[in-house]
Formats: sequence, structure tokens, C-alpha cells
Amino acid sequence: EKSIAASLPLYGKKILVSAGPTYENIDPVRFIGNYSSGKMGFEIAKVATSLGADVTLVSGPSHESVVGYPIRRVDVISANNMYNAMHAEFNNVDVVIMSAAVADYRPKDVAEQKIKKENDDNMTIELIKNPDILKSLGEIKTHQLLVGFALETNNEEEYAKKKLIKKNLDFIVLNSMQDKEAGFQKNTNKITIIDKDLSMQQFDAKTKTDVAKDIINTIITKL
Ligand code: CTP
Ligand code: CA
Repeated sequence: EKSIAASLPLYGKKILVSAGPTYENIDPVRFIGNYSSGKMGFEIAKVATSLGADVTLVSGPSHESVVGYPIRRVDVISANNMYNAMHAEFNNVDVVIMSAAVADYRPKDVAEQKIKKENDDNMTIELIKNPDILKSLGEIKTHQLLVGFALETNNEEEYAKKKLIKKNLDFIVLNSMQDKEAGFQKNTNKITIIDKDLSMQQFDAKTKTDVAKDIINTIITKL
């Protein structure tokens, strides 16, 4: 049994994956969120586990499940929660794949009681910037292979390359929005992998399971 596990390509590797959206509270009954399903990150976690990796999955609110897989799941809600969970694991891992759709901003003040309607027809919520989790990991990385995602609607490759460099990544997975098959709440994605040497590899539109395999294969070649 031990020898079969040891023959898997990710045997002995510790991989930290983030998935899903974050929810940023406004008051006890309301939040700001996004449409991320978490599917991409869960597929990555499952493929990595199947290839022998020891996987920790930090997930924002998601209906996806890891039942049947030996994955350690850490549930979080907000970007700040996710920041803490990722930093708590970072020193112990070989690879980090940041596929979560982290909210860029959160409400500056969270009301302790449910906010009541006012007579005014308009209302404003002041937002402040969340920490950039991936960038913060890029600043302290030593041996870890660091992988990010980029979702762009225009100037895709240029913006993705900027993120790759700014966040000190080993490679970035560009999710093409130009393709109708791709994106949030879909079962397929069309990706381009951009390496830190800026070389690019384009993939056809595939199921998220097959996209996860392409991403994990790229990681295996770099370990
Ligand atoms: N990310 C993160 N923490 C944030 C925002 C983003 O760790 N507060 C990560 C995402 O998980 C993703 C990468 O950074 O792996 C790029 O996210 P994206 O939203 O495409 O880019 P941003 O840097 O947030 O820039 P913008 O949204 O303005 O394009
Ligand atoms: Ca963003």
C-alpha cells in the first residue's frame, strides 16, 4: 500500500488551495459577495489529492463538497478570515494555489444591528480595501511554488502578466471571459497559463476537472 502511494507524482507534497467567494458583512443579516461557486478550487484540490498530495482547502461559502476525499477543509467567510487561514498554513506547504474570488473591498463599518430603511431614497456604504492575500504570500515566500488566477475582461494578457509580477508568482492562470463557455457558475473554463518567464500556454475550453488536471500537470513539471 505504501509503495503504491509513494509512486504517485505528488506523494509527500503539501498543497494549500483556496476556493470560493468571500462574504463581507454589512450588518448581521446582509453581506457583499460574488457569484464564485468554488468549483475550480474544489476540482484542483481533488485532482491534487488523487495524485498523492496532502491537501488543505481553505474555502469561502460554497455548496461544493469534498466528501470521499482525504482533504482537510477549512471554512472561512471573509477575506480577513481567509488571509489568516492561508498565513497559518503557508510555512508548512510546498505549493499554494489561490483560486478564491476574494472581495477587493469590505464595508468600513459593520452595523451591530440590522440597518433600518431611512426616508432618504439613497443610501451609501463606505468600503475599504481588503488585504491582497496572494501578494502578501508572494512577499514572504521562500521555497513555495505560488500560483494565482486572473479574471479579466479586456487587455487580458497584459493585465495578467502585471499581476504575475506584482504578486511574485511562479505562474498565473488567466481565465478567459471572452469565451462564452468560461467563467463563474459554469462547468467549463478556457485558460492560458503564463509562466514567470512570461511564456504562455493556451488551452482549449474544458470541464473544470480537466482544467484542474492541466494546472496540476504544470505544477508537477515545476516541482
Ligand atoms: N487575490 C487575493 N486577495 C485579494 C484579491 C485577489 O489573494 N484581496 C488573488 C486572487 O485569488 C487571484 C489573484 O489575486 O489569485 C488575482 O485576483 P484578481 O481579482 O484577478 O486581481 P486583483 O489583484 O484583485 O486586481 P483587479 O480585481 O483590480 O483586477
Ligand atoms: Ca479583484
